[in-house]
Amino acid sequence: MRFDTPAQTNEIDRLKVVGKPVDRIEGKLKTTGKAPYAYERHDVAPNAAYGYMLGSAVAKGRIEGIDLSQARRAPGVLTIVTYENAGKLGKAEANTARLMAGPEVQHFDQAVAVVVAETFEQARAASKLIRVRYAKTNGAYDLAAARRTAVMPEANEYMGQADTAVGDFAAAFAAAPVKVDETYTTPDQCHAMMEPHATTAAWDGDKLTLWTSNQMIAWGVRDVSETLLIPKENIHIVSPYVGGGFGAKLWVRSDALMAALGARAAGRPVKVALARGQVFNNTTHRPATIQRIRIGAGRDGRIAAIGHESWSGDLAGGGPELAVNQTRLLYAGPNRMTAYRLATLDLPEGNAMRAPGEAPGMMALEIAMDEAAEKLKIDPVQFRILNDTQFDPEAGSKRPFSHRNLVGCLQTGAERFGWSRRNPTPAQVREGRWLVGMGMASAFRGNLTETSAARVGVDGKGVVTVATDMTDIGTGSYTVIAQTAAEMMGVPMDKVVVLLGDSSFPVSAGSGGQWGGNSATAGVYAACVKLRGLVAQKAGFNAADVVFDGGKVSSGGRSVTLAEAAGEAGLSAEDAIEFGDLAKTYAQATFGAHFAEVGVDAATGEIRVRRMSGVFGAGRILNPKAARSQVIGAMTMGVGAALMEEAVIDQRSGCFINHDMAEYQVPVHADIPHQEVIFLDEVDDKSSPMKAKGVGELGICGVAAAVANAVYNACGVRIREYPLTLDKLLAGLPATHRQAAKASGAAE
Ligand code: MOS
Repeated sequence: MRFDTPAQTNEIDRLKVVGKPVDRIEGKLKTTGKAPYAYERHDVAPNAAYGYMLGSAVAKGRIEGIDLSQARRAPGVLTIVTYENAGKLGKAEANTARLMAGPEVQHFDQAVAVVVAETFEQARAASKLIRVRYAKTNGAYDLAAARRTAVMPEANEYMGQADTAVGDFAAAFAAAPVKVDETYTTPDQCHAMMEPHATTAAWDGDKLTLWTSNQMIAWGVRDVSETLLIPKENIHIVSPYVGGGFGAKLWVRSDALMAALGARAAGRPVKVALARGQVFNNTTHRPATIQRIRIGAGRDGRIAAIGHESWSGDLAGGGPELAVNQTRLLYAGPNRMTAYRLATLDLPEGNAMRAPGEAPGMMALEIAMDEAAEKLKIDPVQFRILNDTQFDPEAGSKRPFSHRNLVGCLQTGAERFGWSRRNPTPAQVREGRWLVGMGMASAFRGNLTETSAARVGVDGKGVVTVATDMTDIGTGSYTVIAQTAAEMMGVPMDKVVVLLGDSSFPVSAGSGGQWGGNSATAGVYAACVKLRGLVAQKAGFNAADVVFDGGKVSSGGRSVTLAEAAGEAGLSAEDAIEFGDLAKTYAQATFGAHFAEVGVDAATGEIRVRRMSGVFGAGRILNPKAARSQVIGAMTMGVGAALMEEAVIDQRSGCFINHDMAEYQVPVHADIPHQEVIFLDEVDDKSSPMKAKGVGELGICGVAAAVANAVYNACGVRIREYPLTLDKLLAGLPATHRQAAKASGAAE
């Protein structure tokens, strides 16, 4: 099915099942331990041996020699694979760094060997006995230092051109009566999903099966084929349950290759899980950015000039963090410029992490907006409303938004949060030891769509089965897909079976870029439209006026059960949704507003988030319960970005040195107060036949800035360098408050 004109009224609009806060259909399997994850496939590979990945001890250089003699003699060791005995390996086009080092080393902890043993402990112990001689060369690990060598990156699908310009930015900025010109930094951040990368691999002759934890099954098959140099037909990837991905599992990583190589060498199934400490340096991370933002406005509060430049780094051949993308679309203003510059760094590969681009981009832009509003003496909510636009501001009035209600999000949020109670002058509100402040930010994330196929069948018992290689990374894919099929075929949820995450199923959009929910359900919609046609035909009904409802198929006063209509043999149909030019004709994006209240300890600078509210306009919400959970997770991750998360680089070794969950901190339950999540009631008929978009990434965009703006409002210290740790606050805290706190003994 081609989707190239806005959706008409269709079966989904009945909203008998879609749009309801249905519980996760796989939830019980997960909470009772019956959902097998990649590392626990005892059911299919009971005799799996354990592989342990040994990573490079240097970030850059060459392997001069590997001595395996001691390790080979260690107890339980079955085999050890390095680049010297792995056979010929290719490099997948999608990988910036090779998944196995040798002889060249490209980054710290790049896989050097996999040790296979009878137990995990034996494999890990033996890996410590491998002696690797490196010829170490100097690498570049510091973005601030490498900034001056940064170059303009080549245009690509997600970035567009590196530089954009409209009107005369320089002149308009120079002439603007009110100006902000500030530089903001965001640090390297690492994915901290619950399930580390893990794979169980088994060979049957020249056929390879990988039970792995992956977001994009078809990409995985392609990349494994390009790496192992075996045909795609010989690769079977199975990933029905994924314990979080956040972008780290968009591509297969070294666990998959190590397991495959280990299993081939050992002659039996092998499983490899990256230890938590390995996830940080062996896989990918969100790259640090330096962002300069200039906003020039008239006294009336209208933006006359807006400029956003971002510097980031990556390994040679990598790409920039897309931190200025939202600035091309979010606010009006006749004179504009944006630019990306990319430095070469020898850190682990920089890549996608929840809302790549907008997450760090909004961290900076939305502080700059707060600063501009303050200089203009305009309320920050009002300032954003004043500069709203219904058109892509880089395309004049030629390209409207498909649906945009940023203003509704801002107004609803302000009202629900009690924004009118905020004192606009910083450091005025005191509750005991706490300085209390409120801050807000817009939320913005693009709306991407991807081709997505599914097969839907109905059997002689009236059970509807959906099969697609779509993944559920904790997002609720199983459930929204079941809701879609139930709605389309007119059956209750318990008559729908959903099979996901298997490369033998039709190729879906996969889980990435918050496109999965909308695109994958639209693919299921397309297959169901086809299946309905087959059912109607078999029952002798006119497809145009046939109604599927309550397990029955009816037309012209006649009615049969779906089971009868399908017959003993059942019926099955496969189709894909393919998106035409509606994303070019219309700017498509998702919107929201974040509000936060924080307390800052007047003496110690400790920051506690006290309340948060988020309001979102993101098309039809397919399942409000699942969507709310997504957004709560995203807002929590936004608090992490604001206050805690920073992968600290050891400049001597090129290693993220705080590579564990004790030193790389993310919020725990006690850090997160009540979060209110509100979805505006809307549909977007240009987005898909589902009229939905995505929320999983939208929810993180803007959160950190709302917190930073609240901290400023609380204590008057403006921090432009994330994360907002208390050392950055101390010197600026109002002296009177500190003394008063000390005098009362509150901080002691
Ligand atoms: Mo997402 S960062 O595209 O999984």
